[in-house]
Amino acid sequence: MSESAPVPASTAPAAPATAATAATIVEPFFDPVTATVTYVVHSGRGSVCAIVDPVLDYDPKSGRTSTESADRVIAFVREYALAVHWLLETHAHADHLSAAPYLKQQLGGKIAIGEHIRHVQGVFRAVFNLGATLVADGSEFDHLFKDEERFEVGPLAARAMHVPGHTPADLAYQIGDAVFVGDTLFMPDVGSARCDFPGGDAHTLYRSVRKLLEMPGETRLFVCHDYPTADSRGPSFETTVSAQRRGNIHLNDGVTEEAFVQMRSARDRTLAMPNLILPSIQVNIRAGRMPEPEDNDVRYLKIPMNVL
Ligand SMILES: [Fe+2]
Repeated sequence: MSESAPVPASTAPAAPATAATAATIVEPFFDPVTATVTYVVHSGRGSVCAIVDPVLDYDPKSGRTSTESADRVIAFVREYALAVHWLLETHAHADHLSAAPYLKQQLGGKIAIGEHIRHVQGVFRAVFNLGATLVADGSEFDHLFKDEERFEVGPLAARAMHVPGHTPADLAYQIGDAVFVGDTLFMPDVGSARCDFPGGDAHTLYRSVRKLLEMPGETRLFVCHDYPTADSRGPSFETTVSAQRRGNIHLNDGVTEEAFVQMRSARDRTLAMPNLILPSIQVNIRAGRMPEPEDNDVRYLKIPMNVL
């Protein structure tokens, strides 16, 4: 299908049906090094929360990790006496290492991702020759979400939406009236995520985005990264369905699937690999866990030569 009619008037509910009236409160933590936004999603002091896409700091020059970013999240969670039930990954990130295991150890919660992570694990098990050290059945994660699976964050009704295209396993999470779109859409002036990683597909991303943009216009969308164009503005992460439909430079209502695919493919051919793709992917497909230490108690990451 190459034609793209404007998205029909919204019919989907703003949030999954719930008896609760609690408001969704979103606390963003922007990491300027990787341009990633981690979110703590809760409904007030002392409530249950979910943490979306937590970042573990990593210095590729020294091979050192640190927890400065994650510790800011922990301090917030403790200050607001929140109970962490979920550590939600939108996908296996290629630009930062996940801090989910560290946060789980410090705060509790279940590490979750989309069920199609198994496919991504299979692809990168081959790239990194991980053999028996990675079964590729998703069992490294505490929970694998299916498309449209419902869950709760305390009183907030939530659902997982499968939105492949950037990778085959991408999820968006709707929690109350807020949707965490991962790497599908970025802010309207930045556009969309690349589709040239293994298993990525621009046609698929287009359809995933149209699904997201069928939600009511006032639905709040929170992006996973922000790459502000130089000097034009500071980092920003919250937008709405109607702002995206009106003004997204890649995927507004006037863009056909064919035009998007053409633009996205041409643009992806010009993009370098993300700085941290090699360390990130091999850690993140293990739910953020590092490889086992060798007999000298040092952990090693692999660099596949001339593969990517
Ligand atoms: Fe990504």
